[in-house]
Amino acid sequence: MNSKFYITSPIYYVNDIPHIGHAYTTIIVDTLARFARLKGKEVYFLTGTDEHGQKIEQSAQKKGRSPKEYVDEISQKFKDIWDSFGISYDHFIRTTDSYHLTTAQAAFLKMFEKGDIYKGKYEGHYCVSCESFFTKFQLKDDKYCPDCGKETTILEEESYFFRLSAYGDKLLRFYEEHSDFILPKFRRNEVINFVQSGLEDLSITRTTFDWGIKLPKALLDKDPKNEKHVMYVWLDALINYLSALGFCNDLEDRMDFWAADYHIVGKDILRFHAIYWPAFLMSLDLPLPRHIAAHGWWTKDGAKMSKSIGNVVNPKEVVEAYGLDCFRYFVLREVPFGQDGDFSQKALIERINADLGNDLGNLLNRLLGMSAKYFDNQLEVDCVQLQAHYNAEFTQISKVLTGLEDSMNAVQIHRYLEDLWTLFGLGNGIIAKKEPWRLIKEGKKEEVAELLVFIANLLIKSALCLSPCMPKSAESILKVFGLEVDSKNYQRFVVQGELLGTMHLSAIGVLFPKIESALLEDTPKQEDKPKHLLQDSSSVPALEIANPISKEDFAKIEIKVGTVISAEELPKSEKLLKLQVDLGEARARQILAGIKAHYDTQSLIGKQVCVLANLKPAKLMGQISEGMILATKDEEGLTLIVPQNSKKNGSPIS
Ligand code: ME8
Ligand code: MG
Repeated sequence: MNSKFYITSPIYYVNDIPHIGHAYTTIIVDTLARFARLKGKEVYFLTGTDEHGQKIEQSAQKKGRSPKEYVDEISQKFKDIWDSFGISYDHFIRTTDSYHLTTAQAAFLKMFEKGDIYKGKYEGHYCVSCESFFTKFQLKDDKYCPDCGKETTILEEESYFFRLSAYGDKLLRFYEEHSDFILPKFRRNEVINFVQSGLEDLSITRTTFDWGIKLPKALLDKDPKNEKHVMYVWLDALINYLSALGFCNDLEDRMDFWAADYHIVGKDILRFHAIYWPAFLMSLDLPLPRHIAAHGWWTKDGAKMSKSIGNVVNPKEVVEAYGLDCFRYFVLREVPFGQDGDFSQKALIERINADLGNDLGNLLNRLLGMSAKYFDNQLEVDCVQLQAHYNAEFTQISKVLTGLEDSMNAVQIHRYLEDLWTLFGLGNGIIAKKEPWRLIKEGKKEEVAELLVFIANLLIKSALCLSPCMPKSAESILKVFGLEVDSKNYQRFVVQGELLGTMHLSAIGVLFPKIESALLEDTPKQEDKPKHLLQDSSSVPALEIANPISKEDFAKIEIKVGTVISAEELPKSEKLLKLQVDLGEARARQILAGIKAHYDTQSLIGKQVCVLANLKPAKLMGQISEGMILATKDEEGLTLIVPQNSKKNGSPIS
């Protein structure tokens, strides 16, 4: 087993202050890094800021600052927020650091000497906001950026090019041979399609602005006119992953950490990481990263976050109001990794009260309460007996614990937490079943002690596994038992299944106090429920139900959960999208849905939906449709009906 583990976050542009999207990515990386440390791996976790490029030059100008002053200030804001969140990064890189310049220039020269870089003329459609060139085919309505929708400009300039076109086949072969290179897997096809549609050489220098890394000295010596070129910001930025390891610079040489285990990115920058970056690395004769994992996009109360609308969620305020671990739990648990999610205080409060307060917090409180009341906090039982009496439960626990690692490796952190939470359900369930307060009255004190020690062991194991996601809370829980979060204890209690038979419990305060109402000011006040709808059931007349059906009628209807695995427009249709939906059957179903006006194809891929599965197949616009996607509509528009938590494809709805 390779004990070195290298993981990175994107380096964030310094033209914006940190918001919840950045915090989300960084928290995911932090979680994976902590998990790897728990497994005993030697971890290098890199984050930092991306500080060159026209967009940043312009932002500085607008503020009347020099670029350097400006980037210093914003970069510090990123560093400060990660520090205040206890993010366990090992190195914070800035692309204006001199060692990074050295690496970027050395890498440029290597690719040039290899014959992969040549000088040419560039004419293209350029989006300043995304720092990206697009081909005609990629533009929206012939002139708008396909990513951000802003108008592109046509640029012509002398430019160096990277021979990306030469790498298409090699990339396709690589994707073929490494089916888990791109995570989650449903994003893989997008990338493969893009490469299959043909790669054009990539313009990798600019002459229209200055705020960037100059070409390597060898090229300036060759031709002084090369002075006017600066490196394309994406080339500059991607190379950061090597600079931080001391590649061709005078930082400590850590290239034994290469190749990266995970580059965690948002879906907006998957293409750069899954296509351009591997091609650059091939050109540099370096091995390719093991996984590029792309998460989805956060919206706020259903809307895209933007500075102009003023609805950007400041992660610092959320953390101050609700606590760091609650915030971490919410973002990691609320959305299946890879899918888009919506941030609302209501959803956050529900999660805190239900999952954290009721499930986990309660279990701990019950244990602490009964241990104090019946045993003065001192518990002692025979572990062999304990194991024998709770054999079925321990088997279930170890099954869950074993599965957790796969979920984490696949960056299915929501699943990791879901599975972990089944253990708290198990604990609470067994207390309810055994009714220890009754056993005590019957004088069965030993049975109660054993039950409490069982719960304690369940909590020790699950708190260790929870620690990558909620480090502080896990630490507090383990402190109750006089234990610490470290790889030694993980090895003992989680991997080897050791049980603790004797313990002295130390009380702690309530970990997750119940939250009654929203704590942040910016949310609209919850409207009071209309009084006339809240009837006292004893005194009301029966409601008239229109078109009543029987249970048997309903049983004829098969509604199932499925995942959209592809979505495309039907050119001839104004309304319809053509979807492939995986219902857990031998093949995916083709379904035509009249939702084109409400959803773009990209946002649908990976989404779980509810499908009326036994509808007779029908032809629409010459295409077969094998089911119906369920949605609801009001005057504000249409929305799909989706399961609150991700469910296995094919799960029936009843
Ligand atoms: O792209 N929801 O930097 P960036 C979820 N410098 N994640 C979001 C988000 C949202 N609403 N908004 C941003 C860059 N993110 C380049 C990267 S890497 C070599 C160079 C997260 O500041 C998400 O991870 O625009 C996205 O990929 C990243 O912030 C983009 O940050
Ligand atoms: Mg961006």
